[in-house]
Amino acid sequence: MSENGYGLAPDGRPKGNKVWVDGCFDMVHFGHANQIRQSKQYGRYLIVGVHTDKEISLNKGPPVFTETERYAMVRAIRWVDEVVEGAPYTTTVETLDKHDCDFCLHGNDITLDAEGHDTYAEVKNEGRYRETLRTQGVSTSDLVGRMLLLTKTHHERDDHLSDEHSERARTLSTSEDTASPYTRVSRFVATSRTILEFASGRTPKPSDRIVYVCGAFDLFHYGHLRFLEEARKLGDYLICGILGDSTVNSYKGGNHPIMSLHERVLTVLAYRPVDEVVIGAPYMVSDEMIDRFNISLVVVGCEVPHHEHDCPDAFEAAKRRGIYREVESGSNLTTEGIIERIIKNRMEYEVRNRKKAKKEAAALEALERLQGDTTKAIKITAEAAERAEPTRKWV
Ligand code: CTP
Ligand code: C5P
Repeated sequence: MSENGYGLAPDGRPKGNKVWVDGCFDMVHFGHANQIRQSKQYGRYLIVGVHTDKEISLNKGPPVFTETERYAMVRAIRWVDEVVEGAPYTTTVETLDKHDCDFCLHGNDITLDAEGHDTYAEVKNEGRYRETLRTQGVSTSDLVGRMLLLTKTHHERDDHLSDEHSERARTLSTSEDTASPYTRVSRFVATSRTILEFASGRTPKPSDRIVYVCGAFDLFHYGHLRFLEEARKLGDYLICGILGDSTVNSYKGGNHPIMSLHERVLTVLAYRPVDEVVIGAPYMVSDEMIDRFNISLVVVGCEVPHHEHDCPDAFEAAKRRGIYREVESGSNLTTEGIIERIIKNRMEYEVRNRKKAKKEAAALEALERLQGDTTKAIKITAEAAERAEPTRKWV
């Protein structure tokens, strides 16, 4: 136990009482959730500040999810104690003091404002900054890139991409030649430990009413969250079946799903309503499945028309047994809707990704001069960002 009574954090230093994390949390993904999970190990109480759409547009380019969606989604991540809406883009000592936080936590990467200033410079200089490990292989820019490209490069190596396609992929940070180590092609590797760290660990009591839902849960969004919250209300324990990549691809076609099975599993596990997931759930919710998991109710959302294909009814067994229920999620957002937002604003997102990659390349050059120490404040000039070439290979 440390002298302040909260014990030691993973870095061996005393934990804080209240600690602060902030960010955009656009297209909230498991990299964000993992940052929040790690941060919770540094304090008794975790406050997450989320920036407004206006601040993000000014400093980084337009977000894909609205602030209302981002606030609700961060609030539902299981390790978050409180969300501060509209947190300033630059983190100051004044903000930490206002919310009674001992220090702030950020992944070990660099965040710059529109002028190229490190947004954590002040708290770094005042010793109120500590770091978590950034999750390799996922970023909002990469997800946006995957959608803009609509290729399968995020699932499998495609050596036959045309030169033009390759170049577009490179600039959008989704190919093997990467723009920066922060926003590169998804090479996320799931381990049993990562899954364990994300899992609720709760087992159902014999008297628990177990609810089962299933789906692709690709590009997890506000509609998914609302659906899971409604489903959870109908019982005591929620199991979420995540359909395998080939199952989803067989009814959606194209390059769907955008996120791989393990990415989708971790994303869903991070949310409070979910107690357990089935990794690569079968399309059919069979009698065997219902008995094996002791399922009392199979719940499906009715906002979104289910899969239009010739497969047999996936929920036939549940309907026959009288345990099938439809719920209103109250949101008409879909994975396709998210993709449409991006396609509609294609130009803006391409510019955003390119600018971000250039700025990151300049930040990395500056970081090399600091021997890679991300806990020190850096500043880059507009000229340095313009000069920087995000073409270097990062392996
Ligand atoms: N983060 C992380 N691992 C990732 C992505 C983000 O640890 N793969 C962390 C960031 O370091 C930061 C927090 O999540 O502490 C919030 O990140 P955000 O402000 O949304 O910005 P980005 O780092 O730019 O996220 P992304 O690259 O996905 O746009
Ligand atoms: O489309 P997907 O398979 O990801 O959907 C998973 C579940 O979430 C389905 O039951 C779907 O009806 C539900 N959903 C919802 N409201 C939304 C989006 C999805 O109820 N806006």
